[in-house]
Amino acid sequence: MTQSKLSQLMQRGTDFLGCETAIMCGAMSWVSERHLVSAISNAGGFGVIACGAMTPDLLDTEIAETIKRTDKPFGVNLITMHPDLMALIAVCGKHGVTHVVLAGGLPPKGSLEAIKATGAKVICFAPAMALAKKFIRSGVDALVIEGMEAGGHIGPVSTSVLAQEILPEIASQLPVFVAGGIGTGEMIAAYLEMGASGVQLGTRFVCAHESIAHPAFKKAFIRGNARDAITSVQVDPRLPVIPVRALKNKGTEEFTRKQIEVAKLLDSGEIEMSEAQLQIEHFWAGALRKAVIDGDIEHGSVMAGQSVGMVKAEESVAEIVTSLIEQAETALAR
Ligand SMILES: Cc1cc2nc3c(=O)[nH]c(=O)nc-3n(C[C@H](O)[C@H](O)[C@H](O)COP(=O)(O)O)c2cc1C
Repeated sequence: MTQSKLSQLMQRGTDFLGCETAIMCGAMSWVSERHLVSAISNAGGFGVIACGAMTPDLLDTEIAETIKRTDKPFGVNLITMHPDLMALIAVCGKHGVTHVVLAGGLPPKGSLEAIKATGAKVICFAPAMALAKKFIRSGVDALVIEGMEAGGHIGPVSTSVLAQEILPEIASQLPVFVAGGIGTGEMIAAYLEMGASGVQLGTRFVCAHESIAHPAFKKAFIRGNARDAITSVQVDPRLPVIPVRALKNKGTEEFTRKQIEVAKLLDSGEIEMSEAQLQIEHFWAGALRKAVIDGDIEHGSVMAGQSVGMVKAEESVAEIVTSLIEQAETALAR
């Protein structure tokens, strides 16, 4: 049987992930749980559980419940600054998780070795060439390069620029998956032709039938346009704000007001710098859960990428994957 051009271009990615199509659904806190993750893997893609702030016990249950729903491979996304990182790695090892994605900065000493000792492959985010090279030297198995079009926490550089800078030099050394702003199969085909082994999408899968996101959260995605998915604004250079891309709402306006208020308290000496920074950091605590689970899309954080404008309806995961594949095949045939 002759292999399609798309399968050829994805071969390295599918061999690495152990699935049919090298489309990963990036971990999304509160969204990427047992139902969405198993649905993605059952549809031939690669689902990733978002561990986020879960305790080792909660992760243990989530992995076990995912295994009940799929016999296909899936990954687990761990945040490097989680205080129980080593215990979470052990839980992944206990279940024979095949791929661990490390997000949130440089992995602490010993964590890469601990993951590899379980037999799992390690995937890291490389937001710049220097980091990509550092990760390769430290023995990671694959990289995700994610641009600032993406939903959630983002870096400063666009996906297209990262792809141009990193793929030509790095893609021959290990599988590289491109993420951020991918909404169609045409874009997938383009990054594969540039040397990517596969892609990672998040926003496009939020409105899947299998996603447990609240109906109001999904409705906000279906209504939203690219220009509504804005990055969090930092008002005062003394009070750092981690850039997050989300749909603008009352919460984003309140956050700006809160920063101005805290800066004034700081100027008048009513609060210390540490208290001021804490107030800024805590503003969004629990805000993603509030939006995804409770459906409070006005005050919660509706994290979404710029590709939100290409989310037009609720569909099944299988329908989304099939249409992405068809679009990519058509683009390559052209
Ligand atoms: C609602 C939401 C929550 C996310 N949460 C996480 C997370 O917990 N950990 C992580 O590494 N990435 C997270 N991301 C990023 C996704 O894993 C993925 O890389 C990104 O969505 C890809 O870009 P796209 O949104 O343009 O498709 C999140 C994205 C969204 C939209």
